[in-house]
Formats: sequence, C-alpha cells, structure tokens
Amino acid sequence: MAYMAADPSDIDRMPRGGFRASCLDRLLETDRPEYLDRDDVDSSIKNQVIGALDWTGRFFKNHERFAGIALDLIADVPDPRILELGAGHGGVSRQLLADHPSAHVTVTDLDPESVARIAASDLGSHPRAEVRRMDATAIDAADGSYNLVLFALSFHHLRPAQAARVFAEGTRVADTLLIIDLPRPPAPLHLLRLATMLPAAAVLPFVHDGIISSLRSYSPSALRSLAHHADPSIELTLRSGLTEPQIVIARRGR
Ligand SMILES: C[S@@+](CC[C@H](N)C(=O)[O-])C[C@H]1O[C@@H](n2cnc3c(N)ncnc32)[C@H](O)[C@@H]1O
Repeated sequence: MAYMAADPSDIDRMPRGGFRASCLDRLLETDRPEYLDRDDVDSSIKNQVIGALDWTGRFFKNHERFAGIALDLIADVPDPRILELGAGHGGVSRQLLADHPSAHVTVTDLDPESVARIAASDLGSHPRAEVRRMDATAIDAADGSYNLVLFALSFHHLRPAQAARVFAEGTRVADTLLIIDLPRPPAPLHLLRLATMLPAAAVLPFVHDGIISSLRSYSPSALRSLAHHADPSIELTLRSGLTEPQIVIARRGR
C-alpha cells in the first residue's frame, strides 16, 4: 500500500523511498547517524570506516569504476576541471588524476581530519590537484567553475533539504553533477540485504555504517523529488542495477 505525504513541498518530511513509498519501505529507514557523521566517537573508529572504504574501493575496483563513469561524461572536454565532494580518503580523485593526463581535480570533504589526511598524502603535492575543505550543500565556488562535480557514496548522509541543496549547488558550479550512491532496492530485497549485514554490524564499524547507509539511501523517485525541489529545470538521468550503484546525472535545462 502506498501513502502520500501530507505536503510534498515539505521536502524534509519525504521518506527516503519517496513520497509514495510503501509502509514496509518507510520502516526501512533511520535518523540514526553513521559513525562518520558523529562528533562523539573516537577518530580511530572513523579512520577504520574511511580506511575500509578506501580498501574496498581499491579491491573491488570501485575507484576505477567511479572515475570511469565520471570521465566518460566529460570525454569531449580537453582539460577538464573536476570537483570531488565528500572525497573521504581521496581514492577516487587519485584515480581520476591517474586516468586523465590533463584533468585538474579539486579534492574536498566536510570533515577537517579527512581533508588534513588527504592533504598530507601524495594528493597534497600533486601538480593537478587542490585539496580543500568544502560543504557539498554550500559550495565555495563561482557559477560554472567546473566541468563536473562528483559526489560518491556520500549523498545518503544528507537529510532531504540538505540533499536538495547539493542538486542546486552542484548544477550551479558545474555543467554536470554526478552522484554515485547506494541503490535503494525494493523493500523485500532491502530487508534481505539488511539481514545479511546485521550480524557483523556490532563488531565492524564499516558494516555498522553500511547498514545505516542502506537505510538512508534514496530511491529513484525520491531523487527526482529532491532535484525538482532544488530547481524544476534540473534534468536527471538515473541508472542502476541489482549489483550496480545508483548513478545520478544532473544538469540544468537550457
Ligand atoms: C562514506 S564517505 C565516502 C567517501 C568516498 N567518497 C568514497 O567513495 O568512498 C562519506 C563522506 O561524505 C562526507 N560528507 C558528509 N557530509 C558532507 C557534506 N555536507 N559535504 C561534503 N562532504 C560531506 C563525509 O565527511 C565522508 O567523508
């Protein structure tokens, strides 16, 4: 059974599954923050999560895959300017720089510790990289500064009103905003995915955050509502699959 929210313009009340999410889907969400979003957890726990994300990104070749999706979108731009938001460990930016000989990448995150760690790595002295702290909901850059903005595995961290700001800001500062995130499966499959993860959540911070990420992931219909709320002229292309991430390509209509 599907329910309409009282007021679709009240975007912060939108369920992660969208305004017409089923009862079961509405149960599969949480306001609980991930370790990465909390100020009251030891930084070693956050480092474990970020380290695990980097390791899985390299092992399962997600960094390569994400960089490939991004570079395909700007294949016709000779010396592209790319902004990565929520870079975490910087692995995807590193891959972008390795895979494109003349791309300039601004590598950013909200978390000052992550920014400091990235700045202290090879990226800090890379001739085509700049490392900065930046909030994806209030991007410190002029209109049209970039060819592409990339926000990978981070969008679900944001409440709907904040997430809508990313659509507004990303499409303001760049021709193309690319969001790659966890897909939100149909509720029965989602339940199954959560059940398989649950036993390890108590001992592995990475899995703990993975479960919350899954519960906070946005459905395609929610993504469309967020973009429309940000600016009705934003055009979305959505792609995903059972084993694929949710890929969101956003551009302002001309
Ligand atoms: C799960 S990590 C993803 C790291 C990396 N992008 C990846 O693909 O593995 C989420 C990141 O989003 C960042 N983040 C959360 N809210 C943000 C915001 N408002 N602006 C920018 N980054 C944000 C967090 O600090 C964290 O580094």
